[in-house]
Amino acid sequence: MKILKTVSQAQKLTSLFRVKGKVIGFVPTMGYLHEGHLSLINAARKKADIVIVSIFVNPLQFGPGEDLKKYPRNIKRDEKLCRDAGVDYIFYPDVKQMYPEGYSTYVNIEKISDGLEGSIRPGHFKGVATIVLKLFNIVQPHYSFFGQKDAQQLSVLKKMTADLNVNTKIIVCPTAREQDGLAMSSRNIYLSKQQRADAPYLYKALEYAKRKIMPGNYNRDIDFLKGQMSKLIKSRVSATKIDYISFNDNTTLKELNTLKNTQNREILISLAVRFGSVRLIDNIVIKR
Ligand code: PAF
Repeated sequence: MKILKTVSQAQKLTSLFRVKGKVIGFVPTMGYLHEGHLSLINAARKKADIVIVSIFVNPLQFGPGEDLKKYPRNIKRDEKLCRDAGVDYIFYPDVKQMYPEGYSTYVNIEKISDGLEGSIRPGHFKGVATIVLKLFNIVQPHYSFFGQKDAQQLSVLKKMTADLNVNTKIIVCPTAREQDGLAMSSRNIYLSKQQRADAPYLYKALEYAKRKIMPGNYNRDIDFLKGQMSKLIKSRVSATKIDYISFNDNTTLKELNTLKNTQNREILISLAVRFGSVRLIDNIVIKR
């Protein structure tokens, strides 16, 4: 496994692979890898000849007061995990490589970036789309692997690749979960013991909603469901604030106020909850 630190090094290499007809699989990450990332790497291994993982904590997608400075970093640990997982190259640029002085180009995917996470973290998806398009141009992947955990990120990036004719196929991998249901995230290490014990209630609330709207147990009242989910989460002492619980069309991300006439559509149920200063998100997608 090799580590590539510069854009030109990486781009030369991937151009060569393209010419040679090698299939490139790409897993973009911000490092501090966990099982979720490893499942993306495994999926990439299966589909591609060459697997490239990027590790870059992207300052552009953090708002003022967010956790950019304290975001967990450990390149030695990540290197070992990547090597053991059969990664061929890590692209590990520094901030100056990606945003040299005078950098001034940004990607903005309108509407779909506005609700949910976008409404709480203004500018976040502009930062994500900008870095991911840059990474796509550098790595030139045939396949790019993302987790379902960041549902809105997925919708935004799918829209970007479609609208800007980006030549990569986005592959969605299921959210990796701890045994008790908590979605894996690099940010879980911030959780105190009590918060860690309470955090699985996010998934419990999502599963509750899923049970309620499946055929045979048919509850169309979204406000009622949100109320019940909220009660369940608030019953945990360390869940200090619910930023949102939302039902959306999974393709357009339009908010749903009723489940009438939603057969055959994918419904995204997502939530964001603060445990003190730690903010967790989770979601499930349901097709009835
Ligand atoms: O999902 C992430 O870890 C990041 O948003 C991504 C896609 C690597 C862009 O920085």
